[in-house]
Amino acid sequence: MRIEEIEFWLREQNAQKLAELYKNADLIRKENVGDAVHLRGLIEISNYCTRACAYCGLNCDQSITRYRMSHDEIIKCAKEAVEFGYGTVVLQAGEDPRVTQDFIAKIIKEIKVETDLAVTLSLGERSFDELKAWKMAGADRYLLRFETSDKKLFNLIHPADCSASSCDSTPTSSRGLTAGSRDRIAILKELKQLGYETGSGVMLGIPGQTYQSLANDIILFTKLDLDMIGIGPYIKDPNTPLGSGALAPYVNAEDQVPSGENITYKAVALTRIMRPDANIPATSALATINKANGRELALMRGANVVMPNLTPLQYRQHYTIYPDKACINETADMCKDCLAARIATIGRTIGKGQGGRK
Ligand code: 5AD
Ligand code: FES
Repeated sequence: MRIEEIEFWLREQNAQKLAELYKNADLIRKENVGDAVHLRGLIEISNYCTRACAYCGLNCDQSITRYRMSHDEIIKCAKEAVEFGYGTVVLQAGEDPRVTQDFIAKIIKEIKVETDLAVTLSLGERSFDELKAWKMAGADRYLLRFETSDKKLFNLIHPADCSASSCDSTPTSSRGLTAGSRDRIAILKELKQLGYETGSGVMLGIPGQTYQSLANDIILFTKLDLDMIGIGPYIKDPNTPLGSGALAPYVNAEDQVPSGENITYKAVALTRIMRPDANIPATSALATINKANGRELALMRGANVVMPNLTPLQYRQHYTIYPDKACINETADMCKDCLAARIATIGRTIGKGQGGRK
């Protein structure tokens, strides 16, 4: 599909035409990645963050309770993933320099020795040396969303680091990162080079995001040959500059991408059509805005992955990327049973093994 055609579909409102798009995406999903829905157990290992992302409820300016899980707590969660039959664990955190190269390398090695799990990392913009060390330690995959391909908008919503280290983290500059080195596209290319299965993605409906730039995001998914693509609606957090309106990037109303469910289904379906063999999750942000059946609808419109939360209950309530997050009061066990039931209801099966890109 050319960029104009993608933009046309993103703007489409006709329910019958959209039903055709969704049917096509579902067919392509079935032909390329089958009926199995792969489960990735998400462990939110630290909510400390040195960054000031204008949309994120974990940014360094938020007064929230901060936590960092210990080595043993993380290993315990990984073992729970095995018990639950999950094939992958995802270790996710804010950009927390105290989640050090050695700390993560040791955890990866232990998980790889003791289990058959695939290990996915989602630890932000880290240095080449760190990414390399973690690959050598046995990590399989890395997730880093580029959020939007519109460079100007990206820079606007990703200001310089917090100067006050209110989040008890050493400044980013101590890792040798400077303002100029935050090029997520370059990092994604490094990840590919290092042999990671590489994931990225975007938020939908960021103030200032145009239909044209979103169509371009989808083209970029193909250019980068991404193995995994996460797409979720932007959810307003009134405590953040973007959510409060303190920062209000302006575009013409008719060009502004709306946030919400419908645009998410369209973007998921188009992404499946453009990247037939990619692993595409039904995201937690979508589940948050449609708790009843957001995940199911995404799975029926192109998605083939879900990410049940494994984070211990006492911590997960503090991993508040956005308000009213799904699964905040459920235990890991409850999420496992809930997802199994949801997947069965739509006539799909639970994936076995690591479920990497074929
Ligand atoms: N709404 C939706 N998604 C968000 N993320 C961060 N803040 C928000 C928000 N307010 C997403 C970003 C990030 C991922 C971990 O969570 O896309 O990459
Ligand atoms: Fe967590 Fe449904 S997946 S409660």
